[in-house]
Amino acid sequence: MVKPGLGPFEKDRVYHGDALRLMPLIPPCSIDLVVTDPPFAIDFRAQRLNYNRVGGNVLEGYADISPDDYENFTCCWLKEAYRVLSGSGSLYVFSGWNRLKDVLFGLDSAGFHTINHIIWKYQFGVFTRKKYVTSHYHILFAVKNPRNYTFNKVEHYPEDVWVINREYWKGKKKTPTKLPGELVKKILSYSSNPGDMVLDPFLGSGTVAVVSREMERHFLGFELVEDYYRFASERIAPGQETTNNGKK
Ligand SMILES: C[S@@+](CC[C@H](N)C(=O)[O-])C[C@H]1O[C@@H](n2cnc3c(N)ncnc32)[C@H](O)[C@@H]1O
Repeated sequence: MVKPGLGPFEKDRVYHGDALRLMPLIPPCSIDLVVTDPPFAIDFRAQRLNYNRVGGNVLEGYADISPDDYENFTCCWLKEAYRVLSGSGSLYVFSGWNRLKDVLFGLDSAGFHTINHIIWKYQFGVFTRKKYVTSHYHILFAVKNPRNYTFNKVEHYPEDVWVINREYWKGKKKTPTKLPGELVKKILSYSSNPGDMVLDPFLGSGTVAVVSREMERHFLGFELVEDYYRFASERIAPGQETTNNGKK
């Protein structure tokens, strides 16, 4: 079957703007896989909570959503994700535990079938005095059609708890919430094939686009904060960084 084009967008490009405004411009059924780590609705102080990295290397301006708006925001973008995914498409959405209920509600409301609830355990969290240190994220793997979706069984016994370290980008400019390349590679290996179209509507530093390019998938991405958009654009420019240990 011939896949629909991307409307006003070109493949293998990232765009500066609001995902809630840009996603409705994507034609229906044009995306094979959505992988995204949306804003969290916590009072995210990028510079201070950046795991002891040198604050000056962290790009400022992370755009978050207020807790009161989060359910509505989540339902809106998940509804659009469902619309733009092909009939055999799938979605991976990251969530902290604090807003997980909104993400689960949004997935059900949009019509998704949740296949797995993955725990991503990473190696450090923010120091606490009177509670446990959070060192995991939730990743919801959901599909449009539970009888027809891509799942390349890369490992014989693929468990739903993933222990993958966050990357140190010593001395380099970065955004505060960058996903490890290894984590995104794992998702793309299982749930896409070369030539597929991958969407990340909340790009941040652009890791999903960088890994997609490296693994010969097509990509499309959006980012609201101009500095992050520029940073992501630089990372995906021809001849730029690969995700091999975060080095060029
Ligand atoms: C958790 S971060 C994504 C991190 C990314 N996965 C990475 O590896 O760098 C979420 C991003 O969404 C952006 N954002 C927030 N609201 C947005 C919106 N309405 N449209 C597009 N991007 C938005 C934030 O500025 C932030 O960069």
